[in-house]
This record gives sequence, structure tokens and C-alpha cells, in this order.
Amino acid sequence: MNKGMNKGVNHEVYGEAHGEVNAELDIEVKLILEAIYLRYHYDFRDYAPTSLRRRLKASMQRFECPTLSMLQGQLLREPEVFRSVLRDLTVQVSEMFRDPEYFRALREQVVPVLRTYPSLKLWVAGCSSGEEAYSLAILMKEEGLLERTLIYATDISQEALTQAQAGVYRTDLVPGFTENHRLSGGKGSLSEHYTAAYDHILMDKSLKERIVFSDHSLSTDSVFAEVQLVSCRNVLIYFNRALQDRSIGLFSEALCRHGFLGLGARETIRFSAHADDFSEVAPHERIYQRRSPG
Ligand SMILES: C[S@@+](CC[C@H](N)C(=O)[O-])C[C@H]1O[C@@H](n2cnc3c(N)ncnc32)[C@H](O)[C@@H]1O
Repeated sequence: MNKGMNKGVNHEVYGEAHGEVNAELDIEVKLILEAIYLRYHYDFRDYAPTSLRRRLKASMQRFECPTLSMLQGQLLREPEVFRSVLRDLTVQVSEMFRDPEYFRALREQVVPVLRTYPSLKLWVAGCSSGEEAYSLAILMKEEGLLERTLIYATDISQEALTQAQAGVYRTDLVPGFTENHRLSGGKGSLSEHYTAAYDHILMDKSLKERIVFSDHSLSTDSVFAEVQLVSCRNVLIYFNRALQDRSIGLFSEALCRHGFLGLGARETIRFSAHADDFSEVAPHERIYQRRSPG
């Protein structure tokens, strides 16, 4: 292996042997994002640059491309290469009742208000392989609200949506899911909501029937329904300020009067142009309520 090479990425080409980030890399990142947009219509141009660079480097290593320009050439001509790069760019990490305190806050502070609506629409934006949507469906079932609830669960990754629609998860993940469910204030046992078979579990039909999984991009699409709750966690961290603003604007537009926005502890609307649209409900879990317009 050449000096400065690490499984294909030439760190010297990028002047990073000494920890610098160089101008050529920045230009190549812009070009590859433009190429992806023009060729495949996925818009990553307003994603946070540091995380983008890290993820593109992972793709360069996999395809043994010393430069991003070479990776760009490959993905333009080979959709299979693009699909793999897309997997790197859209971080597919999730779990059921992830950050249980968030679900506890929903249960204690949001559900009592949701209970007053005759019918409910919830939107899980950036649902990945479905764990967050199933968790919400379970919570609503435990609170006796599932029958009047429809959950829209959206993402840009078709692969993740297919997995979400199947509702199949590995058995070895279940102890973690079960502990999260317990910590979230779950009523009864998580096992009431799935059937186990060999090395996987299958989520209950009664949950699936209340969830619509669908392709939707916070970068390029608009609002599609009026909802009482938007849950969008671990998604905005990958966006730059402009795209965070666009997304929060969409949530604000989608929410009914006094509807709720849950972002989770890692994200905030504090610096957003839409911050004044909301008041805080659960400051640590970053759950907000839409103020009356005007
Ligand atoms: C880390 S996962 C979060 C999953 C889940 N919300 C959670 O907290 O466990 C981030 C998800 O955001 C999705 N995503 C990335 N960019 C998006 C966009 N522009 N519009 C909608 N979803 C996007 C990714 O495909 C991925 O499934």
C-alpha cells in the first residue's frame, strides 16, 4: 500500500496527512452531490459538510477510489454503485423506543392532549426501517388511541421503507427493544405486539394497518397532510442550517393548531427561522407545541 493510502483513499491527495481539509476535496464534494442530483434526483447539497465528507470517504474506501472524482464517474455509470453510496449517505440506524425518555414524555405530556381529538394523524419523518413508527403505534395502542390513529412514516431510502413495511426485526435486537419499552413507561409486555419466528420477529398486523410507509424527502418535497404530531429524530443533525429551516418550516405548515413537534434531545429549533412558531413542552426531549398562527 502506498504511503498515505488507506484502503484506496489517498489522504495525501487531499492534504489530510496533517489533518487539513483542502479546497480540492470541497470542490469534489460539491461536484459529486450535483452529479447525484442530476443523475438520480436525490438532493444532498444541503447536508452538513463534515458528516458528508466522512460518509463519502467510506464509499471511496469500499470502491477503492483514491479520489472522489473517480467515485463520481463510477456512480454516474453504475446505479449499483450509487445504491451503495446512498446507503452510506442515509444513515440507517434506529431502534424501538430509542431514547425511552422521549416516549415517556410523549406519553405523559402529549397523549393527554391527543386524546381530545376524534381522529389523529401522526408523521414520523425520516423513519428509517420503521422502528420509531412501530414504537409510536404501540404507544398509541397501549393508550387506547390506535384505532383512531393513522401514522405516516416517510423516508428517502426505498430500501429502508421496504424493510419498514415488512416489520421484521432480528431476534437478537429484542432484549434492547424490550428494555427501552419498559423504560419508556410501556404498559404490558412488548411481546404482545409481535410474533417470534426462528431468528426474527414480525410486528403485529394491527400496528401495520395503522401505518402508511411512503417516500418523502425533506429536501425537495412539500407538505402532504395536516397532522397532530410530527416526530423527526436523528435526521436534522445531518442537514445544514438552510435545510434544517426548510424541514422545520414543513413541520410547522403540516401541524394543526396546537399540534406537537418532537425532535429528541439531540436537535433544537432554537436557531431556526421558525422558532417563534412553537412553545416548549418538554425542553430536554425537545418536544414543542405549535402556537396559534398570527
Ligand atoms: C438515523 S436515521 C433516524 C431514524 C429514526 N428517526 C430514529 O431516530 O431512530 C435517519 C433517517 O433519515 C433519513 N433521511 C435522510 N435524509 C432525508 C431527507 N432529506 N428526507 C427524509 N428522510 C431523510 C435517512 O434515510 C434515515 O433513514
